[in-house]
Formats: sequence, structure tokens, C-alpha cells
Amino acid sequence: MKEINVLVTGAAGQIGYALLPRLASGETFGSDVLVNLRLVEIPQVVEKLTGTIMELEDCGFNTLGKVEAFSDIYEASKDVDWALLVGSIPRGITINGKKIEERGDLLKINGGIFTDQGKAIGENGKKDAKILVVGNPANTNALIGMIHANNSNQTWMAMTALDANRAKAQVAIKLNVAISEINQMIIWGNHSPTMYPDLENANINGKSVASLINDNDWIKNDFLETVQQRGKAIIDARGASSAASAANAAIETVKATLSPTEDGDCFSAAVISDGSYDIPKGIIYGFPLKTTTDGKIQIIQGLEINSYAKEKLEITTKELLEEKEAISEII
Ligand code: NAD
Ligand code: LMR
Repeated sequence: MKEINVLVTGAAGQIGYALLPRLASGETFGSDVLVNLRLVEIPQVVEKLTGTIMELEDCGFNTLGKVEAFSDIYEASKDVDWALLVGSIPRGITINGKKIEERGDLLKINGGIFTDQGKAIGENGKKDAKILVVGNPANTNALIGMIHANNSNQTWMAMTALDANRAKAQVAIKLNVAISEINQMIIWGNHSPTMYPDLENANINGKSVASLINDNDWIKNDFLETVQQRGKAIIDARGASSAASAANAAIETVKATLSPTEDGDCFSAAVISDGSYDIPKGIIYGFPLKTTTDGKIQIIQGLEINSYAKEKLEITTKELLEEKEAISEII
């Protein structure tokens, strides 16, 4: 059997709990791939992973390989093919008497985690390792990690697939269609309230979703606000940030990179900007992505951006540039 080494940080957290069985079950990497899991937690919590490991064993998956718990990210990163960087503090909690309201407020708290994780994966991960950052603020954390990894053969991504799924769900309800009919749902920019879910380029059977909805007021107000603020709405309702849907989006992102993307579709994740669509180079930005037949991840080119969308792209660009400025001391 082929083997794959998958590192997961924050493995004892909420998302970790929903994610690990699905990585191990064969659903993600296939029924012919043995998945070795390298679970990482902070020293105070790493002991808890003993219970997680027992549960994973008790699932009885044929595809579960070796499972190990680490608190040292350098040791854990050895020969990893995939790293899912979930470990970080979620918003909604109170630190030193102050409630963390926005994902960006986490930058100072979580940003530092990604310098070491980047170095470790850059030095010890496989040459062509893929990294998906889930921990918030995901785009800028991924930028910190990527810079410290300093390994241009590895691919760093930040997760926006959850936002794309949220956008698809709203469209499916509005148009009374199946989710599977909706293609090319792009989330441009930051995983934050400035993200831009693009209904002009999303399509159903090749027809623009925006034209099918034909209700600009709903698109520019209700829809946009719902998708941009969905993370907060879940925190308010649940008292904790999204976990099952976040784990699902991480699994879908990994799977999207394992087989070629169909024409007319894309997958959403944030990657380093190469200047496509006039987005400044050097920020991790949500783009429409495709996996090529030879397994490369590329930004889909040539999509139309109207003047309204351009304005929205500029807003989220500005926010990412400001986040980059705020972490200038550690990159
Ligand atoms: P959680 O608090 O339940 O779990 C986080 C875990 O990370 C904890 O067990 C903690 O001990 C661990 N951790 C902290 N620092 C670590 C480090 N340096 N190394 C390894 N582990 C570390 O939180 P959660 O609900 O699992 O969410 C995790 C992160 O994911 C949060 O930042 C949250 O905001 C983010 N999130 C992102 C998305 C997205 O779409 N990008 C969606 C949902 C949640
Ligand atoms: C989400 O979008 O659910 C996560 O990023 C958690 C959050 O803080 O909103």
C-alpha cells in the first residue's frame, strides 16, 4: 500500500476531532493509501491525544497507519506530505479581560505560532509538501509560515473552501437547486468579512448564478452579508466557532488537489499572489484554483471582473496589505 504522512496541529481541538477520522478513513486519500498521522499539540495538551489515538484505533479503519503525538513541531514535520495547520486560538474567547471579536485581532496571538511551524515544515517536510492553514487569521498566518519555510517547491494555502460552501448553500436555497449543480464558486481575498464571494463567475450549467438570481439587492446585501458574517453567526449561536463544517472544508480542499479540476469549475483556497487579476504580489489571496492533470495547482486565468467586483477585490486587498504590515517584524 502507498503511504502518506499527514501532520495536523491543534489535533485535540474541536476541528481536529472532526477532521482526524475523515483523514484516516480512506475518504480523503483513497482506500489504497495508508495514512500515517502526526498529531501536534501544545505541551500542556499533548497528553490528551492519547485518547484521540485510542479512538482512531477503535474506528477500525484499514487505511489508518501509524499515529503519533508530538509537542515538538520540528520532530512532527519529518517527511510530511501534507500539513493541516489548525492549531491556534479561535476568536470569541476572552483573553486578559478582552473578548477577541475579529479574526484579525488574533494576528498578534497566533501569528508567532506560524514562524516555527513554517521553519519546521520547510526544513523537514517533503520537498513537495502541501500545507493548508486553517487557524485564523488564515491568510496572513499562511504568509508567515510560507516565508519562514523558505521552500519554493512546497505549496502553502489558506482555507477559504468553507466560505465557498457557505456561498453555495445560500444560492442552493435561493434558487432551489442542488449544491452539486453550482460550479466555480470563487472566494476572492481574505478569509474575513472583506472576502468577496463572486456570483457573476459562479455558474449553473454554464449560466452565471448572478443572472439566474436576477436580484441585485439580494446579491449585494443579504447574500454578501450572510456569507461574510457566517463565522460570527455560528460563534454567536453555538458559543464556539465552526468545527464540523470547517473540518469538512479542509477535507474537500485536500481532495480538490488530488484529482484534476473539471473545466468550468474551480476550487477555492488562498495562495501566494503572482500578480494575477492585478492583485499585488506577496500576499496570500483567495483565487479560483484548478488542479492540472499533472497535479499542479494553478490560478485560473481570464475570468471577467466587473467594476463592482473590482471595488470589492480592492477592499480585501487593502486589508491583507495592512495585515502584512502588522506582522512586518516577524517576516
Ligand atoms: P480549539 O480551541 O478547539 O482548538 C485549537 C487547538 O489548537 C487547541 O487544542 C490548542 O491546544 C491547539 N494549539 C494552540 N496552539 C498550538 C500550537 N502552537 N501548536 C499546536 N497546537 C496548538 O479551536 P478550533 O475550533 O479547532 O479552531 C482552530 C482554529 O481554526 C481557530 O483559529 C479558528 O478560528 C480557526 N478556524 C478557521 C476556519 C477557516 O475557515 N479558515 C474555520 C473555523 C475555524
Ligand atoms: C469561520 O469562518 O467559521 C471561522 O473562521 C471561525 C471564525 O472566527 O469566524
